[in-house]
Amino acid sequence: MSSRSFAEYRAMFALGERDLDGVVLDCAGGASGFVAEAAAMGVRALAADPLYAHGAGVLADRLAADLEQGNAMISANAERFVWRWYGSPERRSELRLRARKAFVADLRRRPGSYVAASLPHLPLAGGSVDLVLCSHLLFTWADRLGREWHRAAITEMSRVCRGEVRIFPLVRMGDGEPVPFLGALLDELRGEGLACAVREVPYEFQRGARHMLTVTRHH
Ligand SMILES: C[S@@+](CC[C@H](N)C(=O)[O-])C[C@H]1O[C@@H](n2cnc3c(N)ncnc32)[C@H](O)[C@@H]1O
Repeated sequence: MSSRSFAEYRAMFALGERDLDGVVLDCAGGASGFVAEAAAMGVRALAADPLYAHGAGVLADRLAADLEQGNAMISANAERFVWRWYGSPERRSELRLRARKAFVADLRRRPGSYVAASLPHLPLAGGSVDLVLCSHLLFTWADRLGREWHRAAITEMSRVCRGEVRIFPLVRMGDGEPVPFLGALLDELRGEGLACAVREVPYEFQRGARHMLTVTRHH
């Protein structure tokens, strides 16, 4: 479970001010500093993740170990990361720690906004949110989650969304390579009546991961 901040999400998803006017779903939220910080700014933000079933106490204990594990993985694979956006490992850790604190506090304050759920099923009504942001789940773990799972997950996020689904990144965590089934998956989604586009974003950490996928239902 990782913890990313509002600043990281704003860059990864090229968020403009108007993008956050409606209801925003972070799926999978993890330790969503984004949702906590957005809510503090008055954004109607919620998150979905299977780990929310454990409650704030268990998650708070687990987060320190998860951050250390992430840092160790980055140190062991230093050639696969670029620091232009963060500036330094210290700045990244600082953002993560702040995001983690904001998440735990918001989870305690607004538990109803953190929904325990596993893709490809979301317990939300059709068209009930305006923007879905999906960071570091789809494509990231494509060595374990196959094309059919991705198709079902994207179809489900599009079902609950009146506006746009944005997914970042489009490369695998294991080797930083593009997902081989991306083209075929986009063809299938277009066949379901979804409009798909790949857009460059002003963020890069995994070398070469500079693009998000946007998916919208034709209305
Ligand atoms: C690497 S974390 C990313 C969290 C957050 N979006 C971020 O960018 O920091 C991946 C998250 O996906 C969640 N997850 C795993 N399987 C899932 C599923 N089937 N549906 C929804 N979330 C899932 C995990 O619990 C974990 O919190």
